[in-house]
Amino acid sequence: MDVKILVIHGPNLNMLGKREPGHYGTETMDEINRQMTQKGLQLGMKVDFYQSNCEGQIIDRIQSACDQYNGLIINPAAYTHTSLAIRDALLLLSCPVVEVHLSNIYQRESFRRHSMIADVVSGQISGFGSNGYLLAMDAVFQLLRS
Ligand code: DQA
Repeated sequence: MDVKILVIHGPNLNMLGKREPGHYGTETMDEINRQMTQKGLQLGMKVDFYQSNCEGQIIDRIQSACDQYNGLIINPAAYTHTSLAIRDALLLLSCPVVEVHLSNIYQRESFRRHSMIADVVSGQISGFGSNGYLLAMDAVFQLLRS
């Protein structure tokens, strides 16, 4: 498999399954990661995963991903709405980047309706639950083919 993608899960996503299931569903992060690994086998993509609750660590991981991956899928969780630093780090990458949110951030509180990264990523998928990560893999696959 020569296509390698990285998936970054932001703060509190390690608590999926227990965390506000009405918004985020009942699947755990590990279950979502397993589904992505499976789909990666079908698409011919190797999928690496990273989760952190710390903004700086997420930035370090984005920086070290530079030139190492063909695509990035990122759910920055609450940092979506606040982090200029994650936005700046994403600008280092030249590969497709897909922003994912489990919930539809536009149907929630006003402070969730703005994403600091939406205008610097290839596209955003919001509101399809864990399926959003699988849709993001299709999006990366198509972007790499085109
Ligand atoms: C989230 C939406 C964010 O507003 C929230 O802070 C999260 C998860 C989502 O996946 O729906 O932690 O990114």
